[in-house]
Amino acid sequence: MTTPIIEAHGLTKRFSRGKTTVDAVTDVTFDVDAGSLVAFLGPNGAGKSTTIRMLTTLIPPTSGGARVVGHDIAGAPHEVRARIGYVGQGTSGSFAQRVRDELISQGAFYGVGKAQSRRRADELIESLDLASFGSRTVQQLSGGQKRRLDIALGLMHAPTLLCLDEPSTGLDPQSRANLWQHILDLRERYGTTVFLTTHYLDEADHYAERVMVMDGGRVIADDSAAALKATLAGDAVSLGFASAADADAALAHVARLAGREVTRADALTLTTNVADGERLLPRVIRDLDAQGIAVERATGVPPTLDDVFLALTGRSLRDADAGTPDPGADADATLTTTAGEPS
Ligand SMILES: Nc1ncnc2c1ncn2[C@@H]1O[C@H](COP(=O)(O)OP(=O)(O)OP(=O)(O)O)[C@@H](O)[C@H]1O
Ligand SMILES: [Mg+2]
Repeated sequence: MTTPIIEAHGLTKRFSRGKTTVDAVTDVTFDVDAGSLVAFLGPNGAGKSTTIRMLTTLIPPTSGGARVVGHDIAGAPHEVRARIGYVGQGTSGSFAQRVRDELISQGAFYGVGKAQSRRRADELIESLDLASFGSRTVQQLSGGQKRRLDIALGLMHAPTLLCLDEPSTGLDPQSRANLWQHILDLRERYGTTVFLTTHYLDEADHYAERVMVMDGGRVIADDSAAALKATLAGDAVSLGFASAADADAALAHVARLAGREVTRADALTLTTNVADGERLLPRVIRDLDAQGIAVERATGVPPTLDDVFLALTGRSLRDADAGTPDPGADADATLTTTAGEPS
């Protein structure tokens, strides 16, 4: 059995400012296997960045700890930093430098030799598709190009673990898809473990092997997207009838077949959530037909990770994100750092 690349145990962070304290992360314990791609999901202020910052040694935990790439984050932070790449929520890079020079400086920062830095910069420029802007300055890049540069910066010292905090936020759908292709390629090419946060549920759903959901500083779910959806959400089944009398008559039958509570969404519509809507629908339609009740419309919509979050918390992730302003938002911005920045 191989040692996990991240072993976090009881990670806790409490921020105190004057009389206010914020329990940003509380008692978080998890392992990440080498080579995996893990997405960290959760609304604004859930504690995702704080967790990543503790794991990358940028801020010390209040209690608990972690071993990352085989080293203790408190006892051997330099060992950890030398072996991980971190790309923070903000954009890194000094504006006037050319892309290639920026990469080479980053290599120097990590103590990579000059010749190797140049080789690595050229390799990353190619694999992250930055070749056509290699001689441009950072300020001349688009948002998507900058984000790709950020990732290249985090990879200059060939880390075995890459931590990305919202790599795709603010990018258009095309750039997001592009960036993801690059992340997947890097993984394939170098076997890099990728631990990232995202607000895009579809990204977590499609690309991550494992989804960790965080809320209020705690991990509230941790599994593959498919397993989370199957166990926590289920297909949203909706049946429409020609008359309220038909809907009334169908209710008990549908509840019996579904083995679930059925909701009267409106006078003519019944809805329920089941694990296997595809199989249930034809059975329900046949059964109701045999009772002389015609189903006029039927839909079965597979769940999303938002339905998972809703099932777990009673809130939709979108509503949670649009909720109250984050009290630590200002402090948060000042903590956004580039790879290897001292805490
Ligand atoms: N330096 C700080 N001082 C005080 N509070 C902070 C600080 N950094 C973060 N917090 C607070 O800790 C909580 C968790 O913040 P964190 O940045 O980890 O959330 P997040 O899940 O990354 O959110 P987002 O999706 O908005 O990036 C928030 O309530 C935030 O305001
Ligand atoms: Mg964050």
